[in-house]
Amino acid sequence: MNQILVVGSLNADLVVRAPRFPQPGETISGEDLRVIPGGKGANQAVAAARLRADVSMLGRVGKDNFGDFLLENLKQNKVDASLAQRDDSSTGTAIIVVDASGQNSIVLSAGANGNVSTTDVDNISFANYQLLLLQLEIPLPAVLRAAQRAKENNVRVILNPAPARQLPDELIALADFIIPNETELSLLTGQKIEDISSAESAVRNLLRRGAKNVIVTLGSKGALLVNKETNKQVDTFKVDVIDTTAAGDAFIGGFATALLQNKSLEESVQYGCACGALATTKFGAQPSLPTKAEADHLISSL
Ligand code: RIB
Repeated sequence: MNQILVVGSLNADLVVRAPRFPQPGETISGEDLRVIPGGKGANQAVAAARLRADVSMLGRVGKDNFGDFLLENLKQNKVDASLAQRDDSSTGTAIIVVDASGQNSIVLSAGANGNVSTTDVDNISFANYQLLLLQLEIPLPAVLRAAQRAKENNVRVILNPAPARQLPDELIALADFIIPNETELSLLTGQKIEDISSAESAVRNLLRRGAKNVIVTLGSKGALLVNKETNKQVDTFKVDVIDTTAAGDAFIGGFATALLQNKSLEESVQYGCACGALATTKFGAQPSLPTKAEADHLISSL
């Protein structure tokens, strides 16, 4: 039985490290280009699989070299890719610049990710899963249908509303856990996030719209866990940051895996923080995702 189903994106990340981000109209030089497996869906699938969860991934890639590369990479990370399809579009790509402080800027070209459809979702059985992980790099109707089918089958839903956009209340209410960062929370709610209290007020907006549990990832400030009974800021771990790409995906892989092990919500958030922190200490999306031994070691330092 696969515990986790990810319905989401697979991207080839084309990454250059540069001293800083270029200004509009400016050309600057960076280091050698690297092609790295990425995509928020695939990153979250690999993040959970490295922590030894059983993971299956539904998504689409093209019939090109990047498609071969990404599917082979899922296989090497023990993610079941039998639900992934190949079509005539090119494989999704992400153009990423990482600056000297480890922050990134990303431009996506959806490619085959843009063809994931409600029919793809209708063609699979949800009966064998315990958790569904969703992000927003595939069309919204497919995301919504996956959430609906999950709930019909008593599968818990984790929604990572990234890249940021506004969402229908129906999707917000279907998700058991919504996990945005501050920017995503701001776009989702139309509220400015400047500090913890403005984040809490935006989260209350989501709770009024039907959200059950909201976890706001706050980078070096940890995470804010809010539901009807709890309002708690969970600290994260101090690390030397090399590249923040996929830190949010690592958080979600860690949080999901801990939930499946029946850890409490707060412990699961803490485990997510450990995974997110570790992911910032290495370059690239999937190469940076921690193993179970690495995450357990960091948690044991608490
Ligand atoms: O969350 C990081 C990911 O965002 C990258 O791997 C890139 O593919 C984009 O989807």
